[in-house]
Amino acid sequence: MNPAMNVIEIIQCKRDGGTLSAEQIRWVIGRYAADEIPDYQMSALVMAVFKEGLNADELAAWVDAMLHSGDVLDFSHVAAPKIDKHSTGGVGDKVSLPLGPMVAACGVAVPMMSGRGLGHTGGTLDKLETIPGFRTALDPPEFRALLAQTGLVLAGQSETLVPADRRLYALRDATGTVESIPLISSSIMSKKLAEGLDGLVLDVKVGRGAFMKHAEESRTLAETMVGIGRSYGTPVRAVLTDMNQPLGCEVGNACEVAESVEVLRGGGPADLLEVTYRLAEEMLLLGGAAADRAEARSRLERAVSSGAAFGKLVEVVEAQGGDPAVIHDPARLPAAPHHHEVTAARSGYLTRCDALDLGVAAMRLGAGRERKEDAIDPGVGLRILAKVGDAVEAGQPLVRLTWADRTRLEQALPLVERALEIGEERVAPPPLIHGEVS
Ligand code: URA
Repeated sequence: MNPAMNVIEIIQCKRDGGTLSAEQIRWVIGRYAADEIPDYQMSALVMAVFKEGLNADELAAWVDAMLHSGDVLDFSHVAAPKIDKHSTGGVGDKVSLPLGPMVAACGVAVPMMSGRGLGHTGGTLDKLETIPGFRTALDPPEFRALLAQTGLVLAGQSETLVPADRRLYALRDATGTVESIPLISSSIMSKKLAEGLDGLVLDVKVGRGAFMKHAEESRTLAETMVGIGRSYGTPVRAVLTDMNQPLGCEVGNACEVAESVEVLRGGGPADLLEVTYRLAEEMLLLGGAAADRAEARSRLERAVSSGAAFGKLVEVVEAQGGDPAVIHDPARLPAAPHHHEVTAARSGYLTRCDALDLGVAAMRLGAGRERKEDAIDPGVGLRILAKVGDAVEAGQPLVRLTWADRTRLEQALPLVERALEIGEERVAPPPLIHGEVS
C-alpha cells in the first residue's frame, strides 16, 4: 500500500464534495481491482461519487484507471474497420443479434462483447446461450482468431478486460448506485476502449425501462460518453432510443433469438427494424463502408435480402460451437410448456405498455435474474401483442406469457396487468428515436 494514500481520506474528500486527484483515483481503483480495498469502503466511495458526481478531470482519471486495470486488446491483425455497438440496457432489446451479422456481412468487423441480463433488463449473452452448444466465454487468442475468420464475434468480456469494472458493477448493483452518469459512462467506455475499436455506436435508452428515465439525462449520458471517446481518439456516435415500452414483440431469451432470426429472414416488427437499421447505418458510416445513410441502408437491406446476413449468423454460431439447426428452424429453441394470455378488460386504445413492469414480469417468470448467481430459464418469456396507440377490443389478448413454474407465473401476472392501460382516446406511440449525439 502507498503510505501517502489513505482510503478513508479519499472517501471523506468525495463525501464532502471535494475533488480527488488523478493519483488518488488511480490508486483507489487499482487497489480495489487487486482486492486490496474491501467492498464496504468502495461502497462508501461509490455512494459519495453517486451523490457528488465527478468533474471532467476526475472522470477522465477514473476512466483511465478502469481501462488500465487489465488488458487492452489489439485487433490490428484484422484489416477491416472494427466497430462495436453497445446499448445501455433495455427490455426486449435484442438489436445486437440481427445487427452484428448485418454489419459484418457489409465488410465491417464487429468484435462484440456483451453482458448478461441483470434486474429487469435482458442480456445478449443469456440470449445467445439458448443456442445449444454456443460458447460465449472465449479467451483473447481465440477471440482474435475468430474475428479474423468470420468478422463477427459475439462473446462475453474476458476475465482480464477491465477487471475493476467487473467488481465495481456488481458492487453498484448491490448498493443502489447504478444510475449515475459518471459511473455508467466510465463503466461502459472503459470496457469499449479496452476493445481497441476504430469506432463505437452507442444506443442510449431513454424511458421507463431504461436507467435514464428522462431525455435530458440520457442526452447528458450520451454527451459524456462521446466526449470520453473523443479524448481517446475513438469516434463515438450515440443514438437516443425509446425504452418506454419493450422493443419488438418478444421479451425473454430463446424467444428473442427467434425474433432476431426473423429480422435476418427479412421480417420482424417495425420498431425493432427501425432501431436495428438506424444503429447499423451508423456503424457502416463510422467504418467508412458507406458514404451516406441512404447507401448504408441499401447495403444493409441487400445483406438481408440476399441471405448474406443470415448466413453470417449461421457461420458465427458454427464457429462458436453452437447448433446451427436452431437458427435454420427456431422452433427447435427451448420453449417452456405453458401459456397464459392477459386480455383487454374493455375496448379502447392501449395508452401504456410499461417496459419496466414488463421487464420485471419477465424476470419473475425466470427470464432474468434478481441476483447475479441466479440461473435463468431460457424458454420462458412474454409476447407483446399490442403496443401504445393500438386499438384493442374487449377480450383481445394483449400479452402472452410462456411459463414453466406456476408460482413464478403468479408473481409475474400482476405486473403484466399493471403494465397495460386502456383509454378511450388514442395516444400517439412514443417516438422511437429521441435524438443523436456525435
Ligand atoms: N452497462 C454497463 O456496462 N455499465 C453500467 O454502469 C450500466 C450499464
